Amino acid sequence: MTGAVSPDRRRFLTAGAAVLGAAASAQLWLPSTARAAETPLPDGVFSLGVASGDPLPDGVVLWTRLAPYPLNGGGMPDAVVPVQWELAEDERFGRVVRRGTAQAQPAYGHSVHVDVRGLRAGRTYWYRFRTGGQLSRTGRTRTAPARHSSGGNLKIALASCQNWQHGYFTPYADMLAQDPDVVLFVGDYIYESTPSATAVRRHEGTGEPYSLTQYRNRYAQYRTDPDLAAMHANAPFVVTFDDHEVDNDFAGEIPQDPAKQPHDAFVARLTAAYQAYYEHMPVRATAVPNGPHIRMHRRLEFGRLARLNVLDTRQFRSDQATSQAGAQDPSLTMLGAGQKQWLLDGLRDSPARWNLIASQIMMAETDLQVGEGKLWFYDAWDGYQAERNAFLKEFRNVRNPVVLTGDRHLTMISDLKEDFADPDSAVVGAEFVGTSVSSNGDQDQTAFHQEWDPRLPDNPHWKLLDAHRGYHLLDVRRDGIDARVRIVDTVLKPQATPSTLARLRVDAGRPGVRVV
Ligand SMILES: [Fe+2]
Repeated sequence: MTGAVSPDRRRFLTAGAAVLGAAASAQLWLPSTARAAETPLPDGVFSLGVASGDPLPDGVVLWTRLAPYPLNGGGMPDAVVPVQWELAEDERFGRVVRRGTAQAQPAYGHSVHVDVRGLRAGRTYWYRFRTGGQLSRTGRTRTAPARHSSGGNLKIALASCQNWQHGYFTPYADMLAQDPDVVLFVGDYIYESTPSATAVRRHEGTGEPYSLTQYRNRYAQYRTDPDLAAMHANAPFVVTFDDHEVDNDFAGEIPQDPAKQPHDAFVARLTAAYQAYYEHMPVRATAVPNGPHIRMHRRLEFGRLARLNVLDTRQFRSDQATSQAGAQDPSLTMLGAGQKQWLLDGLRDSPARWNLIASQIMMAETDLQVGEGKLWFYDAWDGYQAERNAFLKEFRNVRNPVVLTGDRHLTMISDLKEDFADPDSAVVGAEFVGTSVSSNGDQDQTAFHQEWDPRLPDNPHWKLLDAHRGYHLLDVRRDGIDARVRIVDTVLKPQATPSTLARLRVDAGRPGVRVV
């Protein structure tokens, strides 16, 4: 990182001259070099790499975090550090179109979030950061298509659930080769679990994270996975969190184990966890947390082709039910009143061909009881029956709704039915539950099918069920979505062999999904 200063600096000044003139370029760069000389930074400030996210037709967020000692609080001096960034139309930075200086602040873990605007729609850009004579790796990103464009295609990679201790993030190596336009990550980016001596690779620290420094160290460790780092450097991510970014199965300000975590202590934990989440994700300033609150639900538009509604199904939910009757309590909410109305408005008024909903947890029914009667997972939408059913009813009035989900550590691809209580009810949409990057490790597929296949007759809406690690790749076009379930043979080694497990199709104007 440090050795490249001379040639890169020369190239950089040349590139700058093309845009701003040599004098302006020198003014931009020299003062900070002088400042850096006053306070030398440790080597390796860019150890966490670069990322981009939340693409707009005219902009994208560029991210890095200065952390020379990533597993030990970051290791930066307690001072604001200027970080220069530049964004170009070419990989060699010959045509720089935007540049500036961001301030990496100790209060935000020396993270940098640059919300670049004024870019051209639907095109690829390259970017990099520099501070104290050190240069980051080069990142590549892509803006969203023009607002009114209706053609083309959008390649989305759907990923979730990457438990460091369960395996290497090998699916990202294949994802990189598949070159998606955007990566949609729907939760469990980190796991808060205690280090395990028997794991394939071990969590840092000595226990679960509670403090800001502990959460920072955990995120930093995850970012050292080379396949994850490379994916972040090659495509924009759209992220939302689920439970393990904070605490397993938490609901709002209620922890998994209220007896062990008093309310005040859990609020402090939420505050630390959301802050560290913001610091490590390529998200806009709208996601800067306010104490134990963070705004993650948002919409992204991909021309007239697709509208992506990103949900937050953790922060505003009622505590989980503990019985079948409890799950049907109409007072339970998953989204909270404000977000619920926001989603309904966004679905009803959408000009988009495809209305995608990124939900952390599964929306289609999972009936675990073989034969008569039903048994649901209460942490998923099944546990919030009244609100889920209201959305399913609404889907009749929505153009091509497709729900994109994680959490389950399984591939479960389903039709969404207007009323899962009525076997004859209409199909109103489709859902992809995108397995996991590494969580659950390499599963015994035979044992999995022995356990789950007997449930198929009770869940006829399930079109595909599988327990390999991987992700889903969705090619969204006007006439349909062609999806591929991409799996790897192992996550227990740093290298894996990828393959396509199945191909599926969702036709526009015909609700539901089929294996092809
Ligand atoms: Fe998970």
